[in-house]
Amino acid sequence: MSFLDTLFGSKKKNTDNGEAALPVLPSEIYESALFELQDRIAPSALKVDPKSLDLGDKIARTYFVISYPRFLTDNWFSPIINLDKIFDVSIFIHPIDTVTALRQFQKKVAEVQSQITARESKGLVRDPLLDTAFADLESLRDSLQQAQEKMFEVGLYITIYASNENELYKTENEIKSILESKLIYLKPALFQQEDGFNSVIPIGNDILGVHQKMNSEPLSSIFPFTSFDLTSNKGILYGVNRHNSSLVIFDRYSLENYNSVIFAKSGSGKSFTTKLEILRTLMFDTSVIVIDPEKEYLYLAEAVGGRYFNISLSSEHHINPFDLAIPRDDETAGDILRANIINLVGLFRIMLGGLTPEEDAIIDRAISETYALKDITPESDFANIEPPLLSDFEMVLSGMDGTDTLVQKLSKYTHGSWSSFINQPTNVDINQKFIVFSVRDMEDELKTAAMYIVTHFIWNAVRKELKKRLLVVDEAWWMMKSDDTASFLYSIAKRGRKYYLGLATITQDVEDFMKSPYGIAIVTNSSMQFLMKQSPSSAEVLQKTFNLTDEEKYLLLESGVGEGIFFAGLKHVALKVIASHTEEQIITSDPSQVLAIEKSKKDLLQSESASAEAQKEKYAKELTEAVRIREESILPKKEEPQEQPAIEVPVVQEPPTLEESFEETFKEDPLSDEDTQSDKKEPETEESKHSIADELKDLEEKLFG
Ligand SMILES: Nc1ncnc2c1ncn2[C@@H]1O[C@H](COP(=O)(O)OP(=O)(O)O)[C@@H](O)[C@H]1O
Ligand SMILES: [Mg+2]
Repeated sequence: MSFLDTLFGSKKKNTDNGEAALPVLPSEIYESALFELQDRIAPSALKVDPKSLDLGDKIARTYFVISYPRFLTDNWFSPIINLDKIFDVSIFIHPIDTVTALRQFQKKVAEVQSQITARESKGLVRDPLLDTAFADLESLRDSLQQAQEKMFEVGLYITIYASNENELYKTENEIKSILESKLIYLKPALFQQEDGFNSVIPIGNDILGVHQKMNSEPLSSIFPFTSFDLTSNKGILYGVNRHNSSLVIFDRYSLENYNSVIFAKSGSGKSFTTKLEILRTLMFDTSVIVIDPEKEYLYLAEAVGGRYFNISLSSEHHINPFDLAIPRDDETAGDILRANIINLVGLFRIMLGGLTPEEDAIIDRAISETYALKDITPESDFANIEPPLLSDFEMVLSGMDGTDTLVQKLSKYTHGSWSSFINQPTNVDINQKFIVFSVRDMEDELKTAAMYIVTHFIWNAVRKELKKRLLVVDEAWWMMKSDDTASFLYSIAKRGRKYYLGLATITQDVEDFMKSPYGIAIVTNSSMQFLMKQSPSSAEVLQKTFNLTDEEKYLLLESGVGEGIFFAGLKHVALKVIASHTEEQIITSDPSQVLAIEKSKKDLLQSESASAEAQKEKYAKELTEAVRIREESILPKKEEPQEQPAIEVPVVQEPPTLEESFEETFKEDPLSDEDTQSDKKEPETEESKHSIADELKDLEEKLFG
């Protein structure tokens, strides 16, 4: 078992005594029987055969590679590495000094060249083998000389383990056939199994020494781990790498911008993935704001204690688009006012269904005048202002010339059924860790305008206070419908980094998104991209945009729910999003699951109230029972006073000992009657009365307080 000695060093032997039989001291016996690590992990016996190592319940056989082809393709070794068999591989790479290598090559070149000339002088036809060798050698010599390549001695050994000869044979055949299809040949290390095994165990000892010479380029193709790992030691778990089952752990705030896009067909898990990210991100002191057109994030908000604002015509939550942010140190009030006027013009363009250049100018002027009406100028202190409302704007507008149609169009927002929407002061506070704005109940015509107002409101809040934030815009194609909303989303993507804000854009309408110049700009400004299941037509568009290979395109077409390709910076991996059971209960939008969860919630509430009722009843019963017993024992019986007056009480006895009272209790005395029993009753003292009153009070408290 010399290899075990190599591994662990041999146990101490009693060497000075040699072979002579000398008395053995008890302490020596103890020492030789010491139980060490090698005793625990080593097989009880080991047989070294010419063709294999017999480890008792396993057989191990070591092979080495004896020949490689002229060309090695990339990644040729990974089918072996990924083989579902038990084996160990060692790759030894010994660099050769370039000068020595060049000298050897020179000799070799001279040899080949002389063979060629010998053939020529004999008038024989040219030998292509020699020509190829000559050309190869020459180009290798060039690259060695220019230090583009280096030479190495490479040994590649594989040890296969199996339970029996048959299994070993099968595995050997499988590995051999994979390699031989690539013209790489293996041989078992005959009569060298022990050396072979010693070379493969991870101690870095190349005892077998079967080497081939290789230069850097083919050598690099041996490296078996070509699938990317996206595991960093910081961040949140996005999912499992489908190539190698490693975890994709990642921090979006470590990239050059913090934005992400998710593209997928409806129902492939976009919102699920995002909700999972939110749930995990919230653990890292990040505030999350969601614009949710589907009312999907309600449960999540409830579960994490966030706020949920339902923006609709009938909602009690309002946002006044005329609000002005308080300027930060690097801005003036004038900047804020100007920016807000431009935003408002954009909003009116959406609300009024487009503006001509003249109308644009009129609206612009009317907005400035509306602010002026409320004494708001670039010189004002925005901390103590009362922002105007839409009706103020309407009033100003109607006082201007040539604005009749505009006023008419506007009136539906100020007087009509939609007046409750924006013609109100803001009453929404987003100073919370998790905020959701739902616009599902908003009329479709107003959805884009509502999303525009909400995003502006969020943007103002974001700029007010620097904080790590994530803004999620689900179903972002709503915002791509108008150029104003699209360009605003893009400007958030572009400027968010400065404010520590990540923008997560989620959309199913890839074609429309990519048609908009802002859509493409948002994609290029997102360091993280997650492509999930696609329809054939959007797969084409994505293939062009993301430079996908055909295989990647097919992967997207065939992806299941929660699967896709995840891009982070320059790396990309095939990802599967996996949630824990608890997480899934919070974020699922599967209607059957949602119904089941709702039902179990209701059941829980009911059973809680039922058990509270039962508890109350139990206490009430206990209380009345206790009162009855105590009344019976404290108060003299109603009839008793007449029959037995005051004499009964005063006999003060010693309280019975434990044994006595035990006997009392179990004494079966058919003759005993009420009187004798009451005689034996412990007399009531002042003290015991007091404790009874206490006990009653306790019970009452339990029940009612
Ligand atoms: N990774 C996942 N694991 C388990 N269920 C998922 C996963 N992703 C999505 N689902 C389920 O698939 C359904 C559709 O997901 P959803 O996120 O609503 O799709 P999308 O937003 O793309 O339309 C939901 O019922 C959701 O619970
Ligand atoms: Mg969704």
